Amino acid sequence: MKETAVVGVGNTKIGEWYDSSLRELTDEAISKAVQSANIDPKEIGATFVGSMSSGIFNQQEHLAALIGPHSGINAPAIRVENACASGGSALRVAMMAINAGFYETALVVGVEKMTDLIDIGDVTTALGTASDGEWELGIGATFPALYALIMRAHMHQYGSTLEEFASVSVKNHKNGSLNPDAQFRKVVTMETVMNSRMIAEPVRLFDCSPVSDGAAAVILTAKDVAKKYTDDPIYIKGSGAGTDHIALHQRESLTSLQATKRAAETAFKMAKITPKDIDFIEVHDCFTVAEVITLEDLGFCKVGKGGKFSLDGETALNSTISVNPSGGLKSKGHPVGATGIYQVIEMFHQLRNEAGKRQVSKNDIGVTQNIGGSGASCVINVFSRGA
Ligand code: COA
Repeated sequence: MKETAVVGVGNTKIGEWYDSSLRELTDEAISKAVQSANIDPKEIGATFVGSMSSGIFNQQEHLAALIGPHSGINAPAIRVENACASGGSALRVAMMAINAGFYETALVVGVEKMTDLIDIGDVTTALGTASDGEWELGIGATFPALYALIMRAHMHQYGSTLEEFASVSVKNHKNGSLNPDAQFRKVVTMETVMNSRMIAEPVRLFDCSPVSDGAAAVILTAKDVAKKYTDDPIYIKGSGAGTDHIALHQRESLTSLQATKRAAETAFKMAKITPKDIDFIEVHDCFTVAEVITLEDLGFCKVGKGGKFSLDGETALNSTISVNPSGGLKSKGHPVGATGIYQVIEMFHQLRNEAGKRQVSKNDIGVTQNIGGSGASCVINVFSRGA
């Protein structure tokens, strides 16, 4: 099997960027990535764009053609849409194209500019289109409401507590306070999280990722040419994807994601690793319960004990397993289609020892888990420093 490397990255800070257009955000991310890889844009063989809902958020479809040429890259471009897993999916598709020998280099861009919709109700509806329209959004079940059902089910089934879920938010805000590109850079207490505004009982404001704008770009190359662009490439050692029913009631379980398990099985097998080999992981904590369930599904702790594992401090920076050193979606922000690429950029900096104050000390193997919607799609990618 051929391998792919990441040789350069660039991104905007995540935030509410009312004064920048979607095109300006991607221009900034792409120009930084091109500069970081020290690559002539003419050498880029193809562009892959991950974005969830630019048609609804910005009344702009046909993103691939909009973005590449505007940044001076005239390579063939396509968009990959897989809800909040669009970024991770775009990376996987680009990797497959390179490993199959179609291209030697590719640009992968993730972008979402959510604040062009001013009304939070409109944003919630736009996001809700990634649920089952007939069975969920159509009868008023928004994403906070769906994750509230999942959280309730977890509490009912395993006796997990609100304090356990809140500890995920506290830890991610602490990590995010060390990340200059994060949307929220404030440390928060358990009391702040547990007394925050109720959104969809029992999900409170600080259980939710925010509404965000951001663009992130990475340059991929075939492994054998990577050193032409940087002395210190990182390598994609494994990649897996999983899919399940969109509607919660059609799934086997409310408290475990088959899509995550399927993606992990493929990715870990390809990378020849087990969960014990992972030094740090960026997981998709769109709501605190999502991080708890992921810890269980990936086998870092016993089923039903993800919340306790978090409350006990086992997921803090440089503890048993560093989970979301970037601050995760909760604190770093969640520009939905771009999130999977921001996760890869965190891999790049952590594996190259350039993550500053949030640098993890054990950094041979890092993993990203990017999920779509309430978990019907999942992409897991495994990265390493050594070839
Ligand atoms: N966590 C912490 N603080 C948040 C926040 C969040 N998720 N979202 C907003 N805030 C803060 C704002 O910074 C602002 O603080 P300030 O008053 O100090 O300036 C305050 O809360 C009010 O912000 P506002 O933008 O008016 O909040 P809102 O009610 O419009 O939105 C949510 C809050 C929870 C509804 C929104 O963040 C949301 O929908 N999140 C989920 C997104 C989602 O579903 N993504 C897809 C996942 S599958």
